[in-house]
Amino acid sequence: MAGVAKLQRNPRTGPYNPVARDVAPPLLEWYDRERRELPWRMAPGERADPYRVWLSEIMLQQTTVKTVIPYYDKFLRLWPNVKSLAKAGLDDVLAAWAGLGYYSRARNLHACAKTVVAEHGGKFPSNETTLATLPGIGPYTAAAVASIAFGERATPVDGNIERVVARLFAVREPLPLAKPALRSLAATLTPLTRTGDFAQAMMDLGATICTPKSPSCLMCPLKNECTARAIGIEAKLPARSPKGQKPNRFGIAFIALREDGAVLLRRRPDNGLLGGMMEIPSTEWMDMLPATTDAMHIVPVKADWWKVPATVRHVFTHFELELVVYRAVVSNDSELTFWADSPRCRWVPRRELDAQALPSVMRKVIAHGLREM
Ligand code: ADE
Repeated sequence: MAGVAKLQRNPRTGPYNPVARDVAPPLLEWYDRERRELPWRMAPGERADPYRVWLSEIMLQQTTVKTVIPYYDKFLRLWPNVKSLAKAGLDDVLAAWAGLGYYSRARNLHACAKTVVAEHGGKFPSNETTLATLPGIGPYTAAAVASIAFGERATPVDGNIERVVARLFAVREPLPLAKPALRSLAATLTPLTRTGDFAQAMMDLGATICTPKSPSCLMCPLKNECTARAIGIEAKLPARSPKGQKPNRFGIAFIALREDGAVLLRRRPDNGLLGGMMEIPSTEWMDMLPATTDAMHIVPVKADWWKVPATVRHVFTHFELELVVYRAVVSNDSELTFWADSPRCRWVPRRELDAQALPSVMRKVIAHGLREM
């Protein structure tokens, strides 16, 4: 088979074992020709700004490049460097983040900016180990920032790179069990120079060529190094352990609309899911839908509540949520019930809702509940 003869036997994972000196040159050559133009990427030869690299990497966790770009541009406009972000109010950061999801990232982003200013003189540390001590920076992000912004020999491994490596080495062990092995194998491929370009080339390869379904092997710069392709199992990799269905949770959300057009919002507790974000007051999210009669005892304002037809569904990482929405128009002087009469709740004019730190699920609830109003 063309090109395969030079691969070495790999007793652990498959018949052949790609090595850095064979993988890095064709991959970097391809990257120089085909790389995606992304706003956080420097032109060849230019030095990357660690702040921009870090900001993009935090945003890109669990989020696609296409979704991230407008948020990245907005954050740079609002806070062009780490010092300005450290000085920003958390509420403003959360509001600017609204819609990107996984909101602990926004809180950690802010905490990290403050730490970099307070403890590192406003400069990001350059090595992987120190980066990983900062809020919100895990092993992947530490390696990405160290290699892309500082040229350190570090190997970020995300889902895309796991797939590329599983195929290059024909690792049949299923994910997530195979993660440590894939990380070690990935590290063996990182060259001594152009480490940031190499990391981003692996990311681009995974995103554009070595895709989960029907990879474009004919266009792949590593087609001659790929063990899975050599033995014809590329489409079966990476293998995955069968995973259970996500559990369901249910709740009732109450949209109280005052006659003057203000909507009642509540701030969520600072810790936990969607911590510190705003929400439409709702029951707890439980295993079963609360009975309507029970729910009517915990409305935030005594009023004539109307059940909005259909429900709002939202998929979180660990569960799926289904919310029944009730809505009521209440007078300007109506009294809040005991739990809603709290500093966590406040009336917000409807035209200001867009600027609130409302997560996607709550924007869905509002769009659903205030349709035709
Ligand atoms: N995904 C995560 N980091 C990335 C980067 N720097 N370029 C492209 N895709 C990415």
